[in-house]
Amino acid sequence: MTSTFSRRDWLKSGLLASAGTLVLPSLSQQAEAASVSGPYGAVYLERHRELAYQAYLSEAPQIKARLSSNENPWGPSPKAKEALVKSVDSSFMYAGPVVGELRKQLAAEAGVPEDHILLGAGSSELLMGSLMLYGPKGKILMADPCYISNRDDRGDNSGIAFDKVPLTTEYQYDLPAMASRVDSKTSMVYVCNPNNPTGVILPADQLRSFCETVSPKTTVLVDEAYIDYAKDPKTESMVDCVRKGQNVLILRTMSKLHAFAGLRVGYAVAKPEILKELRKYCSGGFSISTPSAAAAIASIKDTEFQQMTLKNTLESKKYLYDFLKQSDYTWLPSSANFVLFPLRMKGQTFTKGMMEQGVSVRQWEFDQQHWCRVSIGTMDQMKAFTGAFQKVVS
Ligand SMILES: Cc1ncc(COP(=O)(O)O)c(C=O)c1O
Repeated sequence: MTSTFSRRDWLKSGLLASAGTLVLPSLSQQAEAASVSGPYGAVYLERHRELAYQAYLSEAPQIKARLSSNENPWGPSPKAKEALVKSVDSSFMYAGPVVGELRKQLAAEAGVPEDHILLGAGSSELLMGSLMLYGPKGKILMADPCYISNRDDRGDNSGIAFDKVPLTTEYQYDLPAMASRVDSKTSMVYVCNPNNPTGVILPADQLRSFCETVSPKTTVLVDEAYIDYAKDPKTESMVDCVRKGQNVLILRTMSKLHAFAGLRVGYAVAKPEILKELRKYCSGGFSISTPSAAAAIASIKDTEFQQMTLKNTLESKKYLYDFLKQSDYTWLPSSANFVLFPLRMKGQTFTKGMMEQGVSVRQWEFDQQHWCRVSIGTMDQMKAFTGAFQKVVS
């Protein structure tokens, strides 16, 4: 699988991306990435396709309930908004010192030295950087489905070999099968925990011992985009593996619990040797704006807001579970801000019908089954979902 994606196409796709909220690397990175013979451009293009890029740009924000992107409708925190507005006056300056302060704070939170943190404008930038870094070196091992498992579906341009291990019959990661699949060609293992689209979380002790066994052989990337919704994020996060010096790369985002999807703040936690390599493909925080960084600092401190979000998410999730139960539907137990459940009709027919009712959701197909992934929204949004659902499935 080789890419024929040219530098001109690459830049064109970059310009397209700048019209939306996708992350753009600096010009020097573009030049470097373009000389890496394709994978970055290909992954970039793949992402455009995956998001149905044009539809993404023109997606109506004013629908009744936007439950398709796992956003947090309760935020951002009032303190973050205040910091955002205050920082506008100083935003004629590059964000260096504010980003530096944010990095200090994130390092303290994670219990690692500052050189163990690499910032990005959302974790997408860091994830794409990881694929650029490790993709050309061998195969990327992952579960199927997971957040990135359908990016090579078109095969013609991914330029990266994806090695996929199906979930177990309980829709859990098959860690023993994944561990035994690692060979000398495996350049990275991607673990999304909690997993997107299933919402299922791995038992922390099992994932910890997986990291211990596998990381001497290859880099283990743990995508913790939704870890803040876990019962006990501190013990369920694999950040301690980084503290132990293991070959483990954690990705985190403020898009979810902190409601920063449009503000774009993410970060990687890993030992400096890994981050030094990853930085070749990412901006290292230059792509974060002063207002976003200032807001992030305020949001991290606003634990009251975070607790309120968690409480509301649980209430809305319970409402959804109760509704599905009454409707005689099953679902996968979710440790994230979305829920996946099996449909009794074609996913496309369902999502189209829901959209006609003003509710956006995502559909998936795996295990010979059509699934709906619905994000957890406010109670009003969940009621819009259940009302539309009744009309569409009846
Ligand atoms: C598992 C996972 N990782 C990474 C991301 C990227 O998030 P962002 O770029 O907003 O940080 C998402 C977004 O939904 C996600 O679901």
